[in-house]
Amino acid sequence: MIIEPRMRGFICTTAHPDGAAENVKQQIEYVKSKGKIDAPKRVLVIGASTGFGLASRITSAFGSEASTIGVFFEKPPMEGKTASAGWYNSVAFENEAKKAGLYAKSINGDAFSDEVKAQTIAMIKQDLGQVDLIIYSLASPVRTHPKTGVTHRSVLKPIGEKFTNNTVDFHTGKVSEVSIEPCSGDDIENTVIVMGGEDWKMWLDMMKKENVLAEGAVTVAYSYIGSSLTEAVYRNGTIGKAKDHLEATAFEITDSLNDIGGKAYVSVNKALVTQASSAIPVIPLYISLLYKTMKSKGIHEGCIEQIQRLFQDRLFSGKTVPVDEKGRIRIDDWEMREDVQKEVAELWNKVTTENLPQLGDLEGYRKEFYQLFGFDIENVDYSKDTNEMVQIESIK
Ligand code: NAI
Repeated sequence: MIIEPRMRGFICTTAHPDGAAENVKQQIEYVKSKGKIDAPKRVLVIGASTGFGLASRITSAFGSEASTIGVFFEKPPMEGKTASAGWYNSVAFENEAKKAGLYAKSINGDAFSDEVKAQTIAMIKQDLGQVDLIIYSLASPVRTHPKTGVTHRSVLKPIGEKFTNNTVDFHTGKVSEVSIEPCSGDDIENTVIVMGGEDWKMWLDMMKKENVLAEGAVTVAYSYIGSSLTEAVYRNGTIGKAKDHLEATAFEITDSLNDIGGKAYVSVNKALVTQASSAIPVIPLYISLLYKTMKSKGIHEGCIEQIQRLFQDRLFSGKTVPVDEKGRIRIDDWEMREDVQKEVAELWNKVTTENLPQLGDLEGYRKEFYQLFGFDIENVDYSKDTNEMVQIESIK
């Protein structure tokens, strides 16, 4: 079929397999261009099909020839209906891994469930014995708790008072004021249950019990802090409470891995265009001003550049892993640089619908958004009849 982007609100309901393949190939080429990394060789990535998780899987496989198991929750294709982007990314990843002679298998299912954890552990036992690195990179709006069966929904809201600020509809480029009502009821608790650290710990507990964690195993989850412009809706909002919980869980996990010399880290990453971040009001405007500023300073990074740097310069540099006063790895260092934040804040005060194309990188934002779904990528012939039914090698 001929596949075109189809938008519904802030999401794109179609994805392009050839675009996804090209996207994955470009990320692989980037990692290879940066040279070998002396990192773990048996890696589990939970949330491996898009964004930071996919970049982690690619960096492990093509930066240090690791065997990888990837867990994700993606929609397979149906005749005449495309799969979700993460499905096609994973098709492409496994194809490239196979060509390179690397072990790669995937599990498509709900990572919050006991069943998917058990299935993953069985695969590790059978194929790898144990793993030495576990990346936890889930981003989800819902979680059905495996013990209670209750489905919890996260919300992206400020706490305490209404927050009013500018935002942009990145499709039309219209800058307007938006007000977000504060959270209420169980919103904070639910958001912490979905995006906090409980499930991360459940994975590690179960894996330890089943003896699939190697001596000295390392696990990493991703967090975000961001600027004072977005803190009411992000770090001081409901999602921030979940990130506080995730960061505190790292210490609990490290304690629980003491006897095998294991360690849990949280890495604070930079703001990037993903499906999740596009849905948060205010954030797209911040990102478009941030991209403009960081690009003009030559320090812009996407997911793959962030994770490659995280592995090479922070986690596996052979030196002590540098952390901040709260024990977190900071790969958001360039976003948070004083000169960067100062410039973004100045632009923020001036930006209007009329001057956004000059002051911000709206085009870059839009392009990256389409690229998440495999569109707007060079070297792809979008007029060509494309097979939407491609399958993930290890799931066939
Ligand atoms: P993403 O939406 O690109 O990726 C999410 C992954 O989780 C996908 O592989 C998806 O299939 C998987 N997933 C979702 N629900 C699942 C479930 N129930 N079972 C199995 N897999 C499931 O998200 P992104 O942006 O890469 O986020 C990953 C982490 O990085 C999150 O913790 C996020 O908060 C954090 N982060 C994101 C930043 C951003 O600007 N996008 C900045 C800093 C941190």
